[in-house]
Amino acid sequence: MTKKIAVLPGDGIGPEIVAEAVKVLKALQLKGLDIELEYGLIGGAAYDETGSPLPKETLAIADDADAILLGAVGGYKWESLDISVRPEKGLLGIRSELNLFANLRPAILYPQLADASSLKAEIVSGLDIMIVRELTGGIYFGKPRGIRTLPSGEKEGFNTLVYRESEVIRIGKVAFDIARKRQGRVCSVDKANVLESTELWRETMINLSKDFSDIELSHMYVDNAAMQLVREPKQFDVMVTTNMFGDILSDCASMLTGSIGMLPSASLDENSKGMYEPIHGSAPDIAGKNTANPLATILSVAMMLRYSLDEGEIADMVETAVSVVLDQGYRTADIFSEGMKLIGTVEMGDAVVAVLNSNDR
Ligand code: IPM
Ligand code: MG
Repeated sequence: MTKKIAVLPGDGIGPEIVAEAVKVLKALQLKGLDIELEYGLIGGAAYDETGSPLPKETLAIADDADAILLGAVGGYKWESLDISVRPEKGLLGIRSELNLFANLRPAILYPQLADASSLKAEIVSGLDIMIVRELTGGIYFGKPRGIRTLPSGEKEGFNTLVYRESEVIRIGKVAFDIARKRQGRVCSVDKANVLESTELWRETMINLSKDFSDIELSHMYVDNAAMQLVREPKQFDVMVTTNMFGDILSDCASMLTGSIGMLPSASLDENSKGMYEPIHGSAPDIAGKNTANPLATILSVAMMLRYSLDEGEIADMVETAVSVVLDQGYRTADIFSEGMKLIGTVEMGDAVVAVLNSNDR
């Protein structure tokens, strides 16, 4: 049966990197992958057209699709808007509306890029971490929230960090299941020494781990985890953590791999329906310049093939093609080093497609 893919390019470099990922999808379609694409507006682009960062039509397209490919949202242009209609609300809204609670953010070092990492090659070579970030709860969504004026006339901003046991259990299960297919180790990251909500998080993880006796569970406070990620990142297999800690730690982990421009992500619901996006943002400063790295988005397509379309072999082909392109010496500016061939966004997409097509011969 034809699988429907909703394509939401978004803002900034979003449309450029998504165009390259779509090129890859179309190349796979020519090889027999049975898909159809439907485009929707999200973020600032959607706000400009419709007054909402997440129009109803977009939500309907996404809801109806088997998987969603997203570029990025946000930009200077919309920064002064009310928070309720900012581009980021479109992204948070779709995550929440579709119940995409499990955010998988792999940080894998391609050996070809060991020199692009800001850490010494021996610290990062062979790095393969999976960050499992809770995506629809915690302080991002907790209520009450807002900005109020106190009787003194001073303003006060407030947010709420809240987690229910059931929310911790469902993300915990995802992490344990993934660890089973890896090295069998889960590190749960919290701030249980200070925050009650994460004290409960830790307790719940410990209880849950009794059903996964083959997995080794450890715990780490988030400040230490940030330090350990740059000190000795290879100690980690799977990390599982809250929405906000996962946001921060995944940016940190991405730099270990040389560039945030290389890292894909998957956001899944209970039935493995998913939204796939690069973990980097919309980078408005380089938008429209044909310099952004499309590989994170292309690798997000690979994750889509694996997790939502049940096409593991084709996913492997896409990942291998990316690796071959790096072997060929092609680099966008973010991963460029001396002696390599500097190319643009479009050329990088073409290079990946060329490798995919050369497999036919
Ligand atoms: C991410 C981004 C988003 C987040 C923003 C754009 C709302 O930083 O996907 O990591 O904070 O989740
Ligand atoms: Mg982030």
